[in-house]
Amino acid sequence: MSNPASPPAVAVLDQGPELTFPPGFLWGAATAAYQIEGAAAEGGRTPSIWDTFSHNEGRTVAGHTGDVACDHYHRMPDDVRLMAELGLKSYRFSVSWPRVQPGGTGAANQEGLDFYRRLVDELLAHDIEPWLTLYHWDLPQPLEDAGGWPVRDTAARFADYAQLVAGALGDRVTYWTTLNEPWCSAFLGYGSGVHAPGRSDGGDAVRAGHHLMLGHGLAVQALRASRPQAQLGITLNLYPVTPASDAAGDVDAARRIDGLANRFFLDPVLRGSYPADLRTDLREVSDFGHVRDGDLAIISSPLDVMGINYYSRHVVAAPVEGAEPERYWRAPSCWPGSEDVRFVTRGVPVTDMDWEIDAPGLVETLERVHRDYTDLPLYVTENGSAFVDAVVDGQVDDPDRLAYFDAHLRAAHAAISAGVPLKGYFAWSLMDNFEWAWGYTKRFGMVHVDYDSQVRIPKSSARWYAEVIRRNGLAAQ
Ligand code: FCB
Repeated sequence: MSNPASPPAVAVLDQGPELTFPPGFLWGAATAAYQIEGAAAEGGRTPSIWDTFSHNEGRTVAGHTGDVACDHYHRMPDDVRLMAELGLKSYRFSVSWPRVQPGGTGAANQEGLDFYRRLVDELLAHDIEPWLTLYHWDLPQPLEDAGGWPVRDTAARFADYAQLVAGALGDRVTYWTTLNEPWCSAFLGYGSGVHAPGRSDGGDAVRAGHHLMLGHGLAVQALRASRPQAQLGITLNLYPVTPASDAAGDVDAARRIDGLANRFFLDPVLRGSYPADLRTDLREVSDFGHVRDGDLAIISSPLDVMGINYYSRHVVAAPVEGAEPERYWRAPSCWPGSEDVRFVTRGVPVTDMDWEIDAPGLVETLERVHRDYTDLPLYVTENGSAFVDAVVDGQVDDPDRLAYFDAHLRAAHAAISAGVPLKGYFAWSLMDNFEWAWGYTKRFGMVHVDYDSQVRIPKSSARWYAEVIRRNGLAAQ
Protein backbone atom coordinates (compact mmCIF):
# COMPACT_ATOMS: atom_id res chain seq x y z
CA MET A 1 0.00 0.00 0.00
CA SER A 2 1.35 3.40 -0.88
CA ASN A 3 0.36 5.18 2.35
CA PRO A 4 0.85 2.92 5.31
CA ALA A 5 -1.00 3.85 8.48
CA SER A 6 -2.22 1.96 11.46
CA PRO A 7 -5.87 2.81 11.87
CA PRO A 8 -7.18 2.63 15.39
CA ALA A 9 -10.05 0.47 14.19
CA VAL A 10 -7.81 -2.52 13.53
CA ALA A 11 -7.34 -2.73 17.28
CA VAL A 12 -11.06 -3.52 17.59
CA LEU A 13 -10.37 -6.78 15.78
CA ASP A 14 -8.04 -7.82 18.55
CA GLN A 15 -10.78 -7.91 21.15
CA GLY A 16 -12.63 -11.09 21.92
CA PRO A 17 -13.26 -14.18 19.87
CA GLU A 18 -13.66 -14.00 16.14
CA LEU A 19 -16.92 -13.84 14.26
CA THR A 20 -15.70 -16.11 11.50
CA PHE A 21 -17.15 -16.34 8.01
CA PRO A 22 -17.45 -19.64 6.15
CA PRO A 23 -14.31 -20.87 4.39
CA GLY A 24 -14.05 -19.53 0.87
CA PHE A 25 -16.31 -16.55 1.59
CA LEU A 26 -15.80 -14.23 -1.37
CA TRP A 27 -14.57 -10.89 -0.09
CA GLY A 28 -14.67 -8.22 -2.75
CA ALA A 29 -15.17 -4.64 -3.78
CA ALA A 30 -17.20 -3.25 -6.63
CA THR A 31 -17.07 -0.45 -9.19
CA ALA A 32 -18.82 0.38 -12.46
CA ALA A 33 -17.38 1.38 -15.81
CA TYR A 34 -18.81 4.86 -16.25
CA GLN A 35 -18.10 5.74 -12.63
CA ILE A 36 -14.35 5.07 -12.79
CA GLU A 37 -12.95 4.53 -16.29
CA GLY A 38 -12.87 7.97 -17.89
CA ALA A 39 -11.32 7.83 -21.39
CA ALA A 40 -14.82 8.49 -22.63
CA ALA A 41 -13.78 9.14 -26.21
CA GLU A 42 -10.75 6.86 -26.41
CA GLY A 43 -10.13 3.46 -27.88
CA GLY A 44 -13.18 3.59 -30.10
CA ARG A 45 -15.69 4.22 -27.30
CA THR A 46 -18.78 6.20 -28.29
CA PRO A 47 -21.35 7.93 -26.04
CA SER A 48 -23.74 6.16 -23.74
CA ILE A 49 -26.86 7.70 -22.26
CA TRP A 50 -24.78 8.77 -19.27
CA ASP A 51 -22.37 10.77 -21.48
CA THR A 52 -25.30 12.56 -23.08
CA PHE A 53 -27.15 13.09 -19.81
CA SER A 54 -24.17 14.36 -17.83
CA HIS A 55 -23.23 16.77 -20.62
CA ASN A 56 -26.74 18.25 -20.61
CA GLU A 57 -26.87 21.28 -18.37
CA GLY A 58 -28.46 20.86 -14.99
CA ARG A 59 -28.58 17.08 -14.96
CA THR A 60 -25.68 16.42 -12.58
CA VAL A 61 -24.39 18.41 -9.63
CA ALA A 62 -22.01 21.11 -10.90
CA GLY A 63 -22.22 19.62 -14.39
CA HIS A 64 -19.88 16.78 -13.47
CA THR A 65 -19.35 14.10 -16.12
CA GLY A 66 -17.55 10.76 -16.35
CA ASP A 67 -15.18 12.03 -19.05
CA VAL A 68 -12.14 11.49 -16.84
CA ALA A 69 -13.57 10.02 -13.61
CA CYS A 70 -10.82 8.04 -11.82
CA ASP A 71 -8.88 7.60 -15.06
CA HIS A 72 -8.99 3.89 -14.35
CA TYR A 73 -8.74 3.13 -18.09
CA HIS A 74 -5.14 4.36 -17.98
CA ARG A 75 -4.31 3.32 -14.41
CA MET A 76 -5.82 -0.14 -14.38
CA PRO A 77 -2.63 -2.12 -13.57
CA ASP A 78 -1.92 0.14 -10.57
CA ASP A 79 -5.51 -0.16 -9.41
CA VAL A 80 -5.36 -3.95 -9.58
CA ARG A 81 -2.13 -3.84 -7.60
CA LEU A 82 -3.93 -1.82 -4.96
CA MET A 83 -6.72 -4.42 -4.84
CA ALA A 84 -4.12 -7.12 -4.32
CA GLU A 85 -2.52 -5.13 -1.51
CA LEU A 86 -5.91 -4.95 0.18
CA GLY A 87 -6.19 -8.71 -0.18
CA LEU A 88 -9.41 -8.66 -2.21
CA LYS A 89 -10.52 -12.14 -3.24
CA SER A 90 -12.79 -10.77 -5.94
CA TYR A 91 -13.39 -7.60 -7.90
CA ARG A 92 -16.76 -6.74 -9.38
CA PHE A 93 -16.48 -4.43 -12.37
CA SER A 94 -18.76 -3.62 -15.27
CA VAL A 95 -18.11 -3.66 -18.97
CA SER A 96 -18.93 -0.46 -20.82
CA TRP A 97 -21.27 -1.49 -23.64
CA PRO A 98 -20.32 1.46 -25.90
CA ARG A 99 -16.65 0.67 -25.41
CA VAL A 100 -16.92 -2.87 -26.70
CA GLN A 101 -19.81 -2.46 -29.16
CA PRO A 102 -19.97 1.20 -30.12
CA GLY A 103 -23.48 2.14 -31.10
CA GLY A 104 -24.91 -0.98 -29.48
CA THR A 105 -25.19 -3.08 -32.63
CA GLY A 106 -22.90 -4.87 -35.02
CA ALA A 107 -19.26 -5.78 -34.74
CA ALA A 108 -17.17 -5.71 -31.62
CA ASN A 109 -14.57 -3.03 -31.00
CA GLN A 110 -11.50 -5.16 -30.36
CA GLU A 111 -9.64 -2.32 -28.71
CA GLY A 112 -12.42 -2.02 -26.16
CA LEU A 113 -12.51 -5.76 -25.53
CA ASP A 114 -8.73 -5.76 -25.16
CA PHE A 115 -9.01 -3.42 -22.21
CA TYR A 116 -11.21 -5.91 -20.38
CA ARG A 117 -9.04 -8.85 -21.47
CA ARG A 118 -6.07 -7.07 -19.90
CA LEU A 119 -8.07 -6.23 -16.76
CA VAL A 120 -9.20 -9.83 -16.30
CA ASP A 121 -5.71 -11.20 -16.95
CA GLU A 122 -4.28 -8.76 -14.44
CA LEU A 123 -6.86 -9.80 -11.84
CA LEU A 124 -6.21 -13.49 -12.40
CA ALA A 125 -2.47 -12.92 -12.18
CA HIS A 126 -3.10 -11.46 -8.72
CA ASP A 127 -5.43 -14.29 -7.68
CA ILE A 128 -8.45 -12.01 -7.71
CA GLU A 129 -11.67 -13.56 -9.02
CA PRO A 130 -13.16 -11.34 -11.74
CA TRP A 131 -16.90 -10.73 -11.33
CA LEU A 132 -18.26 -9.17 -14.50
CA THR A 133 -21.41 -7.06 -14.71
CA LEU A 134 -22.64 -6.63 -18.26
CA TYR A 135 -24.87 -3.63 -17.72
CA HIS A 136 -24.32 -0.95 -15.13
CA TRP A 137 -26.50 1.68 -16.79
CA ASP A 138 -24.47 2.81 -19.81
CA LEU A 139 -26.82 2.12 -22.73
CA PRO A 140 -25.25 3.10 -26.07
CA GLN A 141 -26.87 6.38 -27.10
CA PRO A 142 -28.08 5.15 -30.53
CA LEU A 143 -30.18 2.49 -28.76
CA GLU A 144 -31.79 5.20 -26.66
CA ASP A 145 -32.37 7.22 -29.83
CA ALA A 146 -34.20 4.17 -31.17
CA GLY A 147 -36.48 4.18 -28.11
CA GLY A 148 -34.30 2.84 -25.30
CA TRP A 149 -35.45 0.26 -22.76
CA PRO A 150 -39.18 1.00 -23.20
CA VAL A 151 -38.73 -0.57 -26.65
CA ARG A 152 -38.68 -4.37 -26.91
CA ASP A 153 -35.86 -4.57 -29.41
CA THR A 154 -33.39 -3.23 -26.85
CA ALA A 155 -33.69 -6.55 -24.99
CA ALA A 156 -32.54 -8.43 -28.09
CA ARG A 157 -29.68 -5.98 -28.59
CA PHE A 158 -28.59 -6.62 -24.99
CA ALA A 159 -28.54 -10.39 -25.53
CA ASP A 160 -26.36 -9.92 -28.65
CA TYR A 161 -23.99 -7.73 -26.66
CA ALA A 162 -23.86 -10.32 -23.87
CA GLN A 163 -22.93 -12.98 -26.40
CA LEU A 164 -20.22 -10.75 -27.84
CA VAL A 165 -18.65 -10.20 -24.41
CA ALA A 166 -18.94 -13.90 -23.57
CA GLY A 167 -17.09 -14.72 -26.79
CA ALA A 168 -14.19 -12.53 -25.71
CA LEU A 169 -14.06 -13.14 -21.96
CA GLY A 170 -16.01 -16.34 -21.34
CA ASP A 171 -12.86 -18.42 -21.21
CA ARG A 172 -11.56 -16.54 -18.17
CA VAL A 173 -14.55 -15.11 -16.30
CA THR A 174 -16.70 -17.43 -14.17
CA TYR A 175 -19.13 -15.00 -12.51
CA TRP A 176 -21.49 -12.99 -14.70
CA THR A 177 -24.12 -10.49 -13.60
CA THR A 178 -26.45 -9.47 -16.39
CA LEU A 179 -27.96 -6.26 -15.02
CA ASN A 180 -27.13 -4.03 -12.11
CA GLU A 181 -30.23 -2.68 -10.37
CA PRO A 182 -32.81 -2.65 -13.16
CA TRP A 183 -35.10 -0.69 -10.80
CA CYS A 184 -32.77 2.29 -11.15
CA SER A 185 -32.50 1.98 -14.93
CA ALA A 186 -36.28 1.78 -15.30
CA PHE A 187 -37.71 3.97 -12.57
CA LEU A 188 -34.97 6.59 -12.16
CA GLY A 189 -34.08 6.64 -15.86
CA TYR A 190 -37.60 6.65 -17.35
CA GLY A 191 -39.87 7.44 -14.35
CA SER A 192 -38.46 10.29 -12.29
CA GLY A 193 -35.80 11.18 -14.85
CA VAL A 194 -33.09 11.86 -12.28
CA HIS A 195 -30.88 9.30 -14.02
CA ALA A 196 -30.04 8.93 -17.71
CA PRO A 197 -31.73 9.13 -20.10
CA GLY A 198 -33.79 11.55 -17.99
CA ARG A 199 -37.26 10.71 -19.24
CA SER A 200 -40.37 10.96 -17.04
CA ASP A 201 -43.21 8.68 -17.99
CA GLY A 202 -44.58 6.03 -15.65
CA GLY A 203 -45.70 3.80 -18.50
CA ASP A 204 -42.24 3.95 -20.08
CA ALA A 205 -40.69 3.05 -16.73
CA VAL A 206 -42.89 -0.05 -16.46
CA ARG A 207 -42.10 -1.06 -20.04
CA ALA A 208 -38.39 -0.41 -19.46
CA GLY A 209 -38.46 -2.62 -16.36
CA HIS A 210 -40.00 -5.45 -18.36
CA HIS A 211 -37.62 -5.17 -21.29
CA LEU A 212 -34.62 -4.98 -18.98
CA MET A 213 -35.72 -8.26 -17.43
CA LEU A 214 -36.41 -9.72 -20.86
CA GLY A 215 -32.89 -8.73 -21.91
CA HIS A 216 -31.60 -10.39 -18.75
CA GLY A 217 -33.44 -13.63 -19.54
CA LEU A 218 -32.32 -13.69 -23.17
CA ALA A 219 -28.74 -13.00 -22.11
CA VAL A 220 -28.88 -15.82 -19.54
CA GLN A 221 -30.07 -18.21 -22.23
CA ALA A 222 -27.36 -17.13 -24.65
CA LEU A 223 -24.60 -17.30 -22.03
CA ARG A 224 -25.84 -20.65 -20.73
CA ALA A 225 -25.68 -22.10 -24.23
CA SER A 226 -22.22 -20.79 -25.04
CA ARG A 227 -20.61 -20.94 -21.58
CA PRO A 228 -22.11 -23.83 -19.61
CA GLN A 229 -19.55 -23.46 -16.80
CA ALA A 230 -20.42 -19.82 -16.11
CA GLN A 231 -22.13 -18.79 -12.87
CA LEU A 232 -24.95 -16.51 -13.96
CA GLY A 233 -26.95 -14.03 -11.95
CA ILE A 234 -28.60 -10.63 -11.75
CA THR A 235 -28.19 -7.90 -9.15
CA LEU A 236 -31.27 -6.27 -7.63
CA ASN A 237 -31.30 -3.34 -5.23
CA LEU A 238 -33.67 -4.43 -2.49
CA TYR A 239 -35.14 -2.62 0.49
CA PRO A 240 -37.15 -3.74 3.46
CA VAL A 241 -40.30 -1.63 3.29
CA THR A 242 -41.88 -0.97 6.68
CA PRO A 243 -45.19 0.74 7.40
CA ALA A 244 -44.87 3.78 9.68
CA SER A 245 -47.65 2.37 11.88
CA ASP A 246 -50.11 -0.51 12.03
CA ALA A 247 -52.79 1.67 10.47
CA ALA A 248 -54.31 -0.01 7.44
CA GLY A 249 -53.37 2.88 5.15
CA ASP A 250 -49.71 2.72 6.15
CA VAL A 251 -49.63 -1.05 5.77
CA ASP A 252 -51.10 -0.69 2.30
CA ALA A 253 -48.55 2.00 1.39
CA ALA A 254 -45.80 -0.44 2.38
CA ARG A 255 -47.34 -3.16 0.26
CA ARG A 256 -47.42 -0.84 -2.75
CA ILE A 257 -43.85 0.41 -2.43
CA ASP A 258 -42.60 -3.12 -1.75
CA GLY A 259 -44.34 -4.13 -4.97
CA LEU A 260 -42.63 -1.45 -7.02
CA ALA A 261 -39.21 -1.58 -5.38
CA ASN A 262 -38.78 -5.30 -4.80
CA ARG A 263 -41.47 -7.63 -6.13
CA PHE A 264 -41.60 -5.96 -9.58
CA PHE A 265 -38.26 -7.69 -10.22
CA LEU A 266 -38.06 -10.54 -7.71
CA ASP A 267 -41.30 -12.17 -8.82
CA PRO A 268 -40.70 -12.28 -12.60
CA VAL A 269 -37.03 -13.28 -12.25
CA LEU A 270 -37.43 -15.91 -9.53
CA ARG A 271 -41.08 -16.99 -9.90
CA GLY A 272 -41.92 -16.25 -13.52
CA SER A 273 -44.89 -13.99 -12.79
CA TYR A 274 -45.82 -10.40 -11.97
CA PRO A 275 -47.58 -9.94 -8.61
CA ALA A 276 -51.30 -9.44 -9.16
CA ASP A 277 -51.52 -6.55 -6.68
CA LEU A 278 -48.70 -4.73 -8.49
CA ARG A 279 -50.54 -4.95 -11.79
CA THR A 280 -53.64 -3.55 -10.10
CA ASP A 281 -51.66 -0.71 -8.50
CA LEU A 282 -50.18 0.18 -11.89
CA ARG A 283 -53.42 -0.07 -13.89
CA GLU A 284 -53.62 3.69 -14.54
CA VAL A 285 -50.05 3.65 -15.80
CA SER A 286 -49.81 0.46 -17.82
CA ASP A 287 -52.06 -2.32 -19.08
CA PHE A 288 -49.02 -4.63 -19.30
CA GLY A 289 -49.85 -5.07 -22.98
CA HIS A 290 -46.12 -5.11 -23.66
CA VAL A 291 -45.81 -8.50 -21.91
CA ARG A 292 -45.95 -11.22 -24.55
CA ASP A 293 -46.61 -14.92 -24.14
CA GLY A 294 -43.41 -16.66 -23.20
CA ASP A 295 -41.67 -13.55 -21.84
CA LEU A 296 -41.95 -14.59 -18.22
CA ALA A 297 -40.53 -18.03 -18.95
CA ILE A 298 -37.50 -16.35 -20.53
CA ILE A 299 -37.19 -13.86 -17.66
CA SER A 300 -37.24 -16.68 -15.09
CA SER A 301 -34.54 -18.73 -16.82
CA PRO A 302 -32.64 -20.62 -14.10
CA LEU A 303 -29.76 -18.79 -12.43
CA ASP A 304 -26.72 -19.93 -10.48
CA VAL A 305 -26.32 -17.02 -8.09
CA MET A 306 -28.39 -14.10 -6.89
CA GLY A 307 -26.90 -10.64 -6.30
CA ILE A 308 -28.36 -8.19 -3.79
CA ASN A 309 -27.36 -4.56 -3.33
CA TYR A 310 -28.35 -3.22 0.05
CA TYR A 311 -28.10 0.34 1.34
CA SER A 312 -31.12 1.27 3.45
CA ARG A 313 -34.76 0.77 4.38
CA HIS A 314 -37.92 2.52 3.24
CA VAL A 315 -40.44 3.47 5.94
CA VAL A 316 -43.69 4.63 4.37
CA ALA A 317 -47.09 5.98 5.29
CA ALA A 318 -50.43 6.54 3.64
CA PRO A 319 -51.15 9.76 1.81
CA VAL A 320 -52.78 12.47 3.92
CA GLU A 321 -54.85 15.47 2.98
CA GLY A 322 -53.48 18.87 3.92
CA ALA A 323 -50.23 19.90 5.54
CA GLU A 324 -47.42 17.37 5.84
CA PRO A 325 -45.90 16.71 9.23
CA GLU A 326 -42.21 17.53 8.98
CA ARG A 327 -40.74 14.07 9.08
CA TYR A 328 -42.40 12.93 5.87
CA TRP A 329 -41.43 13.55 2.30
CA ARG A 330 -43.37 12.77 -0.82
CA ALA A 331 -42.16 9.99 -3.06
CA PRO A 332 -41.06 11.43 -6.36
CA SER A 333 -42.35 10.08 -9.63
CA CYS A 334 -40.07 7.07 -9.52
CA TRP A 335 -43.06 5.33 -7.91
CA PRO A 336 -45.62 5.42 -10.72
CA GLY A 337 -49.16 5.01 -9.48
CA SER A 338 -48.03 5.53 -5.88
CA GLU A 339 -46.65 9.06 -6.07
CA ASP A 340 -48.67 10.16 -3.08
CA VAL A 341 -47.22 7.62 -0.67
CA ARG A 342 -45.19 9.41 2.00
CA PHE A 343 -41.68 8.39 3.01
CA VAL A 344 -40.89 8.76 6.69
CA THR A 345 -37.68 10.12 8.16
CA ARG A 346 -37.23 8.36 11.50
CA GLY A 347 -34.47 10.54 12.85
CA VAL A 348 -31.93 7.70 12.97
CA PRO A 349 -28.34 8.36 11.80
CA VAL A 350 -27.97 8.88 8.06
CA THR A 351 -25.09 8.85 5.57
CA ASP A 352 -24.04 11.77 3.39
CA MET A 353 -26.73 10.62 0.93
CA ASP A 354 -29.31 11.11 3.71
CA TRP A 355 -29.92 7.37 3.58
CA GLU A 356 -30.82 5.95 6.99
CA ILE A 357 -28.29 3.49 8.37
CA ASP A 358 -30.13 0.25 9.04
CA ALA A 359 -27.95 -2.84 9.27
CA PRO A 360 -30.75 -5.13 10.54
CA GLY A 361 -32.45 -4.40 7.22
CA LEU A 362 -29.71 -6.39 5.49
CA VAL A 363 -30.56 -9.46 7.58
CA GLU A 364 -34.26 -9.02 6.79
CA THR A 365 -33.57 -8.64 3.10
CA LEU A 366 -31.31 -11.67 2.84
CA GLU A 367 -33.67 -13.82 4.89
CA ARG A 368 -36.64 -12.77 2.83
CA VAL A 369 -35.03 -13.59 -0.50
CA HIS A 370 -33.89 -16.96 0.81
CA ARG A 371 -37.15 -17.81 2.57
CA ASP A 372 -39.65 -16.52 0.02
CA TYR A 373 -37.85 -16.80 -3.30
CA THR A 374 -34.84 -19.02 -3.76
CA ASP A 375 -32.29 -21.49 -2.47
CA LEU A 376 -29.64 -20.00 -4.75
CA PRO A 377 -26.34 -18.88 -3.27
CA LEU A 378 -26.71 -15.18 -2.42
CA TYR A 379 -24.05 -12.49 -2.75
CA VAL A 380 -24.18 -8.96 -1.42
CA THR A 381 -22.89 -7.37 -4.62
CA GLU A 382 -22.92 -3.84 -3.16
CA ASN A 383 -23.11 -2.31 0.29
CA GLY A 384 -21.50 0.87 1.52
CA SER A 385 -21.91 4.49 2.49
CA ALA A 386 -20.98 8.01 1.49
CA PHE A 387 -19.43 10.27 4.10
CA VAL A 388 -17.46 13.49 3.85
CA ASP A 389 -13.75 12.70 4.06
CA ALA A 390 -10.74 14.84 4.80
CA VAL A 391 -7.15 14.19 3.83
CA VAL A 392 -4.98 15.01 6.83
CA ASP A 393 -1.22 14.53 6.55
CA GLY A 394 -1.74 12.26 3.59
CA GLN A 395 -4.17 10.01 5.50
CA VAL A 396 -7.93 9.64 5.45
CA ASP A 397 -9.59 8.46 8.63
CA ASP A 398 -13.20 7.47 7.95
CA PRO A 399 -14.65 6.01 11.17
CA ASP A 400 -18.26 6.44 10.04
CA ARG A 401 -17.77 4.43 6.86
CA LEU A 402 -15.81 1.82 8.78
CA ALA A 403 -18.61 1.54 11.35
CA TYR A 404 -21.15 1.17 8.53
CA PHE A 405 -19.18 -1.71 7.00
CA ASP A 406 -18.66 -3.28 10.41
CA ALA A 407 -22.37 -3.17 11.28
CA HIS A 408 -23.41 -4.58 7.92
CA LEU A 409 -20.84 -7.36 8.03
CA ARG A 410 -22.16 -8.33 11.45
CA ALA A 411 -25.61 -8.39 9.87
CA ALA A 412 -24.29 -10.54 7.03
CA HIS A 413 -22.81 -12.92 9.58
CA ALA A 414 -26.10 -13.05 11.48
CA ALA A 415 -27.90 -13.95 8.27
CA ILE A 416 -25.45 -16.78 7.60
CA SER A 417 -25.91 -18.04 11.17
CA ALA A 418 -29.67 -18.02 10.55
CA GLY A 419 -29.18 -20.32 7.56
CA VAL A 420 -28.97 -17.91 4.61
CA PRO A 421 -26.55 -19.24 1.96
CA LEU A 422 -24.64 -15.97 1.70
CA LYS A 423 -21.40 -16.69 -0.15
CA GLY A 424 -19.77 -13.30 -0.59
CA TYR A 425 -19.79 -9.58 0.05
CA PHE A 426 -18.66 -6.70 -2.16
CA ALA A 427 -18.00 -3.33 -0.60
CA TRP A 428 -19.24 -0.35 -2.58
CA SER A 429 -16.92 0.99 -3.59
CA LEU A 430 -13.30 0.19 -4.13
CA MET A 431 -12.62 3.88 -4.66
CA ASP A 432 -14.38 7.23 -4.70
CA ASN A 433 -16.01 7.78 -8.08
CA PHE A 434 -18.63 9.52 -10.20
CA GLU A 435 -21.78 9.09 -8.13
CA TRP A 436 -24.24 9.53 -11.03
CA ALA A 437 -26.42 12.65 -10.65
CA TRP A 438 -24.35 13.63 -7.60
CA GLY A 439 -21.16 13.76 -9.65
CA TYR A 440 -18.01 13.70 -7.53
CA THR A 441 -19.70 15.27 -4.51
CA LYS A 442 -20.42 11.96 -2.76
CA ARG A 443 -17.58 9.68 -1.71
CA PHE A 444 -18.33 5.99 -1.28
CA GLY A 445 -14.78 4.70 -1.69
CA MET A 446 -12.63 2.69 0.68
CA VAL A 447 -9.83 4.32 -1.27
CA HIS A 448 -9.77 8.10 -1.51
CA VAL A 449 -9.28 9.62 -4.96
CA ASP A 450 -7.94 13.11 -5.53
CA TYR A 451 -9.59 13.97 -8.82
CA ASP A 452 -6.93 16.55 -9.76
CA SER A 453 -3.86 14.43 -9.18
CA GLN A 454 -5.57 10.99 -9.36
CA VAL A 455 -3.61 9.99 -6.26
CA ARG A 456 -5.23 7.09 -4.42
CA ILE A 457 -5.09 6.89 -0.62
CA PRO A 458 -6.54 3.83 1.13
CA LYS A 459 -8.75 5.13 3.92
CA SER A 460 -8.86 3.59 7.41
CA SER A 461 -11.86 1.55 6.28
CA ALA A 462 -9.77 -0.02 3.51
CA ARG A 463 -7.06 -1.07 5.95
CA TRP A 464 -9.67 -2.40 8.34
CA TYR A 465 -11.37 -4.32 5.51
CA ALA A 466 -8.00 -5.80 4.48
CA GLU A 467 -7.66 -7.11 8.02
CA VAL A 468 -11.20 -8.53 7.99
CA ILE A 469 -10.38 -10.36 4.77
CA ARG A 470 -7.07 -11.63 6.12
CA ARG A 471 -8.80 -13.04 9.21
CA ASN A 472 -11.94 -14.06 7.32
CA GLY A 473 -13.89 -12.51 10.16
CA LEU A 474 -14.56 -9.84 12.72
CA ALA A 475 -14.15 -9.68 16.46
CA ALA A 476 -17.29 -10.62 18.36
CA GLN A 477 -18.79 -7.71 20.28
C1 FCB B 1 -26.06 1.85 -6.42
C2 FCB B 1 -25.32 1.79 -7.74
C3 FCB B 1 -23.88 2.15 -7.66
C4 FCB B 1 -23.64 3.31 -6.72
C5 FCB B 1 -24.30 3.04 -5.39
C6 FCB B 1 -24.08 4.11 -4.36
O1 FCB B 1 -27.40 2.10 -6.64
O2 FCB B 1 -25.42 0.48 -8.28
O3 FCB B 1 -23.43 2.43 -8.96
O4 FCB B 1 -24.08 4.48 -7.29
O5 FCB B 1 -25.67 2.86 -5.56
